[in-house]
Amino acid sequence: METRAVYPGSFDPVTNGHIDLIQRSAALFDKVVVAILRNAEKTPFFTVEERVEMLQEAIQDLNNVSVTSFAGLLVDFAEQIGASVIVRGIRAVSDYEYELQMALMNRRLSNRVETVFMLPAEAYSFLSSKLVKEIAQLGGSIHGFVPAEVERRLQLKLQTK
Ligand code: PNS
Repeated sequence: METRAVYPGSFDPVTNGHIDLIQRSAALFDKVVVAILRNAEKTPFFTVEERVEMLQEAIQDLNNVSVTSFAGLLVDFAEQIGASVIVRGIRAVSDYEYELQMALMNRRLSNRVETVFMLPAEAYSFLSSKLVKEIAQLGGSIHGFVPAEVERRLQLKLQTK
């Protein structure tokens, strides 16, 4: 039976660390669905549509990966799309507590979905969407942290803000 995994997150915007994790997941599972949370409460930098576009461009060479958005409970979405695995990346110990809490809560909500933690390449262990946005806003270089298209869109958005 094919194993389908969902890789959920905000991806505001996608970083090279996310892409590294997507590539690793694509090698491990038959299908990977990257799922962007549509969260009305947060004020994102990029719209969900923009984030989908940037991710789609970044994963175009991976033929078992798709990108979509979701609302509501992650476990419900996973079941809807037939995913039995939730992939989450852990960079440092500091990520672990939050991830542990979420994974155990998701297990309580559904015992049909298993969380799998994966490590990005150590070169990306300090990288986050939040820091990338902060550096770009303060005029620093984000080259090498995000795909070229994301870099371009970030600069463009900052110029027009
Ligand atoms: O990249 P992020 O922002 O850390 O991703 C968090 C995400 C999207 C995985 C998490 O907020 C989530 O799953 N939200 C959906 C709502 C839900 O299922 N909440 C209960 C989680 S235990």
